[in-house]
Amino acid sequence: MSDSIEPRFRRLLVTGGAGFIGSCFVRDVLARRDGRSITVLDKLTYAGNRVNLAPAEADPEQAARLRFIVGDIADPAAVAPLVAEVDAVVNFAAESHVDRSILDPEAFLRTDVMGVHVLLEACRAERDRAAKGLRAAPRFLQVSTDEVYGSVESGESREDDRLEPRSPYSAAKAAGELLARSYFVTYGLDVVVTRGSNTYGPYHHPEKLIPLFITNAIDDQQLPLYGDGLQRRDWLYVADHAGAIGHVLEHGAAGETYNLAGNNERTNREIVTELLARLGKPWSLVRLVEDRPGHDRRYAMDSSKLAALGWTNKMPFGDGLAATVDWYRQNQDWWRSIKSGEWEAYYRRQYAARLAGSREAT
Ligand code: NAD
Ligand code: TYD
Repeated sequence: MSDSIEPRFRRLLVTGGAGFIGSCFVRDVLARRDGRSITVLDKLTYAGNRVNLAPAEADPEQAARLRFIVGDIADPAAVAPLVAEVDAVVNFAAESHVDRSILDPEAFLRTDVMGVHVLLEACRAERDRAAKGLRAAPRFLQVSTDEVYGSVESGESREDDRLEPRSPYSAAKAAGELLARSYFVTYGLDVVVTRGSNTYGPYHHPEKLIPLFITNAIDDQQLPLYGDGLQRRDWLYVADHAGAIGHVLEHGAAGETYNLAGNNERTNREIVTELLARLGKPWSLVRLVEDRPGHDRRYAMDSSKLAALGWTNKMPFGDGLAATVDWYRQNQDWWRSIKSGEWEAYYRRQYAARLAGSREAT
């Protein structure tokens, strides 16, 4: 994860560690066997799944360095004692799906803004204890997103570009990271921010484009492509995203923000074409459906600041996509249990009318 032999931060609080990227971070840190211990605080929303940590929990040496607590980052009573005993907080916890933020923004404000505030307040109290010589001040890493830049029609966003979030999700994420930065400026908290691009890989909740289309295609279900399908995203493999966060945690400068790009820009149509080819399924599954309101056309970031910090992504896109397709083929129990219960109501609400009014994609 980080290149240093002796990690700077040995006791970590990882919030949202049962989600897609957070669980990858936890698995990868523990698998390094470098003595670091992790407390996961996770609310286990529809997107959280303790099974995502099963590989670490099945290994006695790793399990001994992992503690799992079910709780809400917006609950000060749950958060304060945990922050009191760690060297760093890495905040992955968020409501993370743009489409759900359009259906119901409130949960996004609660977790992605107020939750960050509660974590920051707990860090501030610990910084005050540090000022009295009672401990070292904790570092706070806020996991943010390229979506805070808004739609980037051309060129690549740099860290000091204007933020122009356009969905309730990205607006809430922008608020969360700006609040974190304000605690660096105002209170001198040790804060770093990462802005990752669209992430893909194993354990990705099937509401998102790549896992939704893989799992629907395996079942010969329709693939609802929004609008003209020519929106562009930059894809980052999950282990590279988690690794880059670990690298910034260890080496990033306080008060700084780092873009974590994948450098794999594709249109959604190109992604679907690649997935169908790998799965041996026909293009006739694809349906053009009513577009997402306010749909960002393109995200792209310059990540030379991260490169200068010494991080390089490892996974080539073709290999990452192949590994992802294989994982969903081989782990059908994992996603079939998610695609039941709450999922069915969500899927109907999000897609039933769209698919009824859909047209063939040429
Ligand atoms: P995810 O939805 O898979 O996981 C989020 C986790 O947070 C879940 O385990 C959930 O139970 C937990 N959680 C939600 N609300 C909580 C609360 N109030 N208290 C405690 N836990 C709570 O998300 P992800 O895709 O793993 O994203 C992780 C982080 O990375 C998020 O902050 C997201 O904004 C950011 N990010 C994601 C991507 C992406 O493409 N997935 C890209 C850039 C940045
Ligand atoms: P998504 O995985 O939701 O990530 P984000 O909105 O954070 O970029 O969507 C990726 C792209 O795929 C985005 O342009 C929206 C599009 N998309 C579809 O066309 N159909 C779908 O069913 C979904 C979920 C996404």
